[in-house]
Amino acid sequence: MTGWNREYLKHKGEYLELFDKSMQKEQESNVEFLENKLKLLTGRKYAVACSNGTDALHFALRSLNIKEGDEVLTTNFSWISTASCISMVGATPVFCEIDISSYHMSLDSIKRMYSDKVKAIVYPHLFGNMSDTKEILEFCKEKNIAFIEDAAQSLGASLNGVRAGSIGDISTLSFNANKVVAGIAGGGAILTDDKDKAEIIKKLRRHGNNEMLGYNSKMLLMNAEFINFRLNRIKEWQSKRQEIAKQYDEQLKDYVTIQPRTNGLDHNYHKYVIRLPNKEIRDKLKNILNAKIHYDKPLSENVMYKNIEYRKDKTYGSKIVCDTILTLPIHPYMTQSEIDKIINIIVITLEHKNNKFVNNMKKILGNDLFDKELLKETTEDIYDYIVEKTYQLPEYIEDVPFKNKTKLKIAFNKFYENLTRNTR
Ligand SMILES: Cc1ncc(COP(=O)(O)O)c(C=O)c1O
Repeated sequence: MTGWNREYLKHKGEYLELFDKSMQKEQESNVEFLENKLKLLTGRKYAVACSNGTDALHFALRSLNIKEGDEVLTTNFSWISTASCISMVGATPVFCEIDISSYHMSLDSIKRMYSDKVKAIVYPHLFGNMSDTKEILEFCKEKNIAFIEDAAQSLGASLNGVRAGSIGDISTLSFNANKVVAGIAGGGAILTDDKDKAEIIKKLRRHGNNEMLGYNSKMLLMNAEFINFRLNRIKEWQSKRQEIAKQYDEQLKDYVTIQPRTNGLDHNYHKYVIRLPNKEIRDKLKNILNAKIHYDKPLSENVMYKNIEYRKDKTYGSKIVCDTILTLPIHPYMTQSEIDKIINIIVITLEHKNNKFVNNMKKILGNDLFDKELLKETTEDIYDYIVEKTYQLPEYIEDVPFKNKTKLKIAFNKFYENLTRNTR
């Protein structure tokens, strides 16, 4: 659920105009207009657009000449690209533990896992959240290692005015379909203040200009035009995401673990994540909500790392988070009723144990509530109605004018069956 389809319908006229304009140009034209906008947005001197965020990370490591025999510190809790880029250049990823409240790399673990072979850190700001990286940056300086900022998920976010994408020796972005700003064909970018590195990366994205081994990773014009167009709304969308996150925070904080809000943080809420008390409840909720999990296993547990060399700290925290985290839908085009429904399902499911929902329904339908025969009936609309209205205001339940109690009873039985089937 990314909302891009809804966004398209809202701005269809503008999209078609853009398409028409772009189709009349050479698609291999340079995309400096986009790179300039990214420089402005992040305050960097150089920006190089490429095909995707994974290439951006890979090129960052290549430009630093990181290779076999070198080690690179990274987190054990992120999207696979954060680590695979290290293996792509033949270096050894060293998986560090996270701080369990921020899900970001822990400084203690970084210090524990450091060795003389370490040449860089790949550090992602997860979910659009940002933590204070001052001490990690100082550590990098002291050890003379590069800080690669994986800002794939955090474009638009800032902490105390420090913008995501502005702090790495090299920083990287992604415009894949689930990001806060997506290209129509994905996309990525590298940001840096180092002219030489920017030049190397420009070559890498274009077959190394035949001077070195390179790749085909140019961003074509139309994609750049669409990203550029969408970037104009990044702030507006971020505010909308923040409004939704606030509702989740306020209405779910007594039921689940929400992420603490750091002072000075302008979160972009690329993802809104909660944590549940254990894996069983998390999995049940995931099924009921048809939600996603980011991420369900530590990176080192990916099958590919059975065959690829790595080093690893004890990462029990990462494992616990993988077992208990759940991503709730969030995007700027969600309706209020979709948001309410998600909140209500979580509340109902977690309160199911104390039977509040059943007791409330008994008030309207009487004690002989349960009837398995009714499960065969069709009642989609009322099914939703139960979730959206009835539980939202349990004290108001007796005043709801349920004209057709049989329908309501069918809906209740179906709803309850679904709830308990997934929570048993
Ligand atoms: C943290 C992180 N790093 C890197 C990437 C790679 O970006 P892409 O999908 O554009 O290759 C992603 C994208 O999902 C990501 O979330």
